Amino acid sequence: MKYKVTGGHPVSGRIRCNGTKNFANKAMVAALLSDQPTTLHNVPDIGDFDITKDMLKSIGTEIEYDKANRSVRIIPSSIKTSNVPMPHSGSNRIPILLISPLLHRFGEATVPLMGGCKIGARKVDFHINAIKAFGGNIEETEEGFVATKTSDLKGTHFELPFPSVGATETCLFLSVLAKGTSVINNAAIEPEIFELITMLRSMGANIFAYPGRKIRIEGVDKLRGTNMHILGDRIEGASWACLACATDGEIVVDGIRPDTLGNFLSHYQQIGGGYELLGQDSIRFYRNEPLKPTMIETDVYPGFSTDWQQPFAITLTQAEGVSIIHETVFEKRFGYLKTLKPLGVSAQITSYCLGTPSRFQNKNLEISAIITGKSELKAVDEIEVPDLRAGLAYVIAAAIADGTTMLTGIHNIERGYGNIAERCKGLSLDIERIA
Ligand code: EPU
Repeated sequence: MKYKVTGGHPVSGRIRCNGTKNFANKAMVAALLSDQPTTLHNVPDIGDFDITKDMLKSIGTEIEYDKANRSVRIIPSSIKTSNVPMPHSGSNRIPILLISPLLHRFGEATVPLMGGCKIGARKVDFHINAIKAFGGNIEETEEGFVATKTSDLKGTHFELPFPSVGATETCLFLSVLAKGTSVINNAAIEPEIFELITMLRSMGANIFAYPGRKIRIEGVDKLRGTNMHILGDRIEGASWACLACATDGEIVVDGIRPDTLGNFLSHYQQIGGGYELLGQDSIRFYRNEPLKPTMIETDVYPGFSTDWQQPFAITLTQAEGVSIIHETVFEKRFGYLKTLKPLGVSAQITSYCLGTPSRFQNKNLEISAIITGKSELKAVDEIEVPDLRAGLAYVIAAAIADGTTMLTGIHNIERGYGNIAERCKGLSLDIERIA
């Protein structure tokens, strides 16, 4: 399948954000910490969610999926095995997170290797060290990971070397059912983490958050099932905002909480974007004035998210002057700028930290981008989408570019955003999904 995008016109209209994949999948895992049913609402209709559903089903979890109403009921009492089989059709970042609930329940867990976007080394050493610190044993094999425990997991004090989202989730999953008190220091505090904490509290967990990235957990013996709404995808929200600004159109985005867009909104305004809050979860985005260049450093929350940099970079191609983006979270996240050169994107990638020195300094990694605008983008016959988050950046670039561009590799987009052509019906974007 391909997307045929004919660009060169302002894109206007209205679109609803999906529930965020980066919480929906974790909420599915959290549901396994109880043996009672949990219902999740506003789940996204995307490939990555299907992958997680299949993983849960493969161990016997009963799942009632109401696609039309975007809800899923997870019945964990039917789980039969702690051995998650090798994936049949690709994987995602979830296997390592499944270890904790399975370890609590069965005393052992076997999970396959992880998939996901190739945007850096994406090591799982923090997860492994956390499992060991709580009293579990874990070994990496050629096929994945095997974890065991000889007695109940015990609460511990664990300091994350970097505020990793996934490793903070692993620590939460381990600690809520561990014996005694746990403290996670240097924890991630992304909105999705706090949604997860809200969900775990509603299941009966005792979690206390403190200033300075510290979370204390008092373990309990049992958790109950719950009902949880999946919050709107702040990455998607920022992408639609960029589409409006980059093409000089006007887009109303529904289903997104403005507070989750944090610093993005300020950077957007600074470069010449405008927005108006229309209600508690609707925002109208537009271009306010000719776009200006800027300097941005990606960071953990509340900084500018690494997942916003791709659509923002494409928007900056339409600003007059030189912009700089310094990536500090993942070490290989600028490949898409090189691939977009044929469309007329002018970007230079360098291994220097053009900003605050990061842990990637002096390692010869591609961590800073210098973008020169304004570029007149021109369509090319065909371009391949290499990863999920670059995916919408490609759609935005093709929407700016004069003429028709075919995007291939669209499974990468659909894993995180669903069928974009179908979802863009309320927008004036000329996009078709073709065989
Ligand atoms: N890291 C380690 N060791 C670990 C864990 C992480 O070195 O054990 C490093 C990573 O290599 C990376 C940094 O820590 O350099 C941050 O990684 P983090 O663990 O925070 O990322 P993640 O949990 O794998 C999630 C999202 C990403 C998002 C990041 C940062 C999911 C499924 N993925 O990844 O989203 O960019 O947090 O906010 O939640 C996406 O949605 O496409 C995506 C890549």
